Amino acid sequence: MLIQILILITFLFYYPFSSFAANNPTYNVQTYGAKSNGKSDCTNAFLSAWAAACAATQPATIYVPPGRFLLRNAYFTGNLCKNTAITFRIDGTLVAPSDYNAIGNTGSWLKFERVTGVSIYGGMLDGQGTNLWACKNSGRSCPKGVTSLAFYNSNNIIMSGMYSLNSQMFHILIDGCNNVKLQSMKISAPGGSPNTDGIHVQQSSGVAVMNSNIATGDDCVSIGPGTSNLWIQNLACGPGHGISIGSLGWDLQEAGVQNVTVKTATFTGTENGVRVKTWARPSNGFVKDVTFQHIVMVNVNNPIIIDQNYCPDPHNCPNQESGVRISGITYEDVHGTSATQVAVKFDCSKANPCNGITLDEINLTFKDKPAIASCANAGGTADGVVKPTSCL
Ligand SMILES: *[C@@H]1O[C@H](CO)[C@@H](O)[C@H](O)[C@H]1NC(C)=O
Ligand SMILES: *[C@@H]1O[C@H](CO)[C@@H](O)[C@H](O)[C@H]1NC(C)=O
Repeated sequence: MLIQILILITFLFYYPFSSFAANNPTYNVQTYGAKSNGKSDCTNAFLSAWAAACAATQPATIYVPPGRFLLRNAYFTGNLCKNTAITFRIDGTLVAPSDYNAIGNTGSWLKFERVTGVSIYGGMLDGQGTNLWACKNSGRSCPKGVTSLAFYNSNNIIMSGMYSLNSQMFHILIDGCNNVKLQSMKISAPGGSPNTDGIHVQQSSGVAVMNSNIATGDDCVSIGPGTSNLWIQNLACGPGHGISIGSLGWDLQEAGVQNVTVKTATFTGTENGVRVKTWARPSNGFVKDVTFQHIVMVNVNNPIIIDQNYCPDPHNCPNQESGVRISGITYEDVHGTSATQVAVKFDCSKANPCNGITLDEINLTFKDKPAIASCANAGGTADGVVKPTSCL
């Protein structure tokens, strides 16, 4: 009892000080001239708030109030930052220019480069991609489009409770980063929107995507070369192309992908569920130690697929084999419905067969016919109930 009272007194005594005495500075973008009307260009106001937060020596908050804030390309670099604890607290919406020519060939709309300790809580990013997709779908010549939010060469990043809508190209890109947490993210673009990948990760380690909902026109999460220690948990994906490791193996010299875990995910009406995809070209890349666990498929075209013969343009890789070595891929407790009869497909490289594939408690069904598994150059084991019957 005495201990409890002491703890209570200590808490009451210290709490107000720890919480308020620090008096960390907050930089409201409106103080720097941002207008919430969705029409005034707020880029400079945001960059000024960033410069002020960077110059602060205590943890600092950049606050974006409710309303719509139009931004052109905004590049937040850490080059001059003293600060390694900058929080964006966003109640409003950041809006990209509706004219895609304004930023469409610049790579990224909102870009963070060489930053450490940046957290973003809340907010909506409206990429206004609709006009660009229409241009692309019409076959006219159009800009490539931008990634809505990109982090390059950055460490200790948190994104939480953000909503990214209608990116021109990728929604979120993590490239060259360490220790990145994305949690409670909502990402949304229509099923037919071209190249609107939800989250693309490459050359990065220690990225976690938790409790998120991604509906898009391309991969929900795509995993590029040099990704390690990636953790994805509690993901709802669909529409979209599923989770894809790849495309890998375009380059001869290429960093591998290793230690990827996808745990508890539901794919609804997607083109693929969990996919590994490599170009049919020489490469010294690899994929190893990947676990897909507790996965539900709802009417998915290719629930489980390894495709090492990816070669959409005949001039890129005629008569070649993928050099990417794939090993140690585990599928555990994967069930639900396939929209095609081939529910499990391992189409591996003749030159570098897949090995160490494990199927454990798989139950995938197809309408009223039995589902099928198809294997080429694939080795491994099956444990527990495995339907369709394993072809390993
Ligand atoms: C694999 O990655 C997870 C994070 O996703 C990490 O906790 C674990 O230590 C890594 N394992 C190895 C062997 O590096
Ligand atoms: C597989 O799933 C089907 C459809 O949900 C179900 O009827 C069947 O009992 C399951 N089989 C096993 C062995 O769990």
